[in-house]
Amino acid sequence: SALRSYEYIQVSEPRPGVAQITLNRPKALNALCTPLIRELNTALREAQASPTVAALVLTGSERAFAAGADIKEMAPLTFSEAYTTSFIESWSDLTSFLKKPLIAAVSGHALGGGCELALMADFIYCTANANFGQPEIKLGTIPGAGGSQRLTRAVGKAKAMELILTGKSFSGEEAERWGVAARVFNTYEELMEGTLKTAEQIASYSKVAVQGAKEVVNKSQDLPLRDGVEYERRVFHSLFGSQDQKIGMKAFAEKKKAEWKNE
Ligand code: CAA
Repeated sequence: SALRSYEYIQVSEPRPGVAQITLNRPKALNALCTPLIRELNTALREAQASPTVAALVLTGSERAFAAGADIKEMAPLTFSEAYTTSFIESWSDLTSFLKKPLIAAVSGHALGGGCELALMADFIYCTANANFGQPEIKLGTIPGAGGSQRLTRAVGKAKAMELILTGKSFSGEEAERWGVAARVFNTYEELMEGTLKTAEQIASYSKVAVQGAKEVVNKSQDLPLRDGVEYERRVFHSLFGSQDQKIGMKAFAEKKKAEWKNE
């Protein structure tokens, strides 16, 4: 295939319309070093641009989604280096350029930056014994890739404050119960199968509608309720200008399967 090859990640298209990006730095439990993040951003941008990709899956290995930022790389950084290079800012680029839906499939460790990266996905699926956490406090620092904000929005202030101040981790089963993960699976195989199946289902819908749906749900995280509801209505109205809305509703009335034009 024309898929590019990388050093720290693997990219595949395991199902129609689905790109899978697998973090692949096993010796360091997928610690997120700068070149890995650079590759990840390249692969995500390519998937965003690819006409054959409609949904994305981001995963790691059975043992580790990602054990955080690369502590050995970070240790010697000075304030001025971190500040002037905007260290870690590019990690969240995907939250602006990626308009296609991204599911994080989390097994094993998702710690520090690994937990934060998972939280940047549109939703998380995980195994019951996945190991989530923000252990930065134990290293004399704090979450730096959005953890204090996204985890707090996901679990509420009380739990987030406890987790971030103690550094203690939480299981995949707890992640699901607390609303961090959308679904929990018993085994790694079930997790991957379930994630790809969901990604394939999303990829089968109108791309225009899927992009609109992702956009409006994400607005709920930034806007006050009244503004968010108004924003949703504007996008909803605009979709009456798409062909796929006509196609979808006509197919329903005719009891047929919709054949999307993605227009
Ligand atoms: N950075 C660099 N290397 C890491 C790493 C990390 N975050 N996590 C694991 N590794 C490396 C280990 O150093 C080890 O390498 P060596 O074989 O060369 O010694 C290898 O991966 C395997 O790790 P362990 O031997 O420690 O494996 P384990 O099964 O005993 O423990 C673990 C697993 C509990 C995840 C443990 O590795 C660990 O605690 N890792 C660090 C987790 C952490 O603190 N993450 C937060 C980082 S800070 C951050 O992310 C800042 C931010 O907000 C962006």
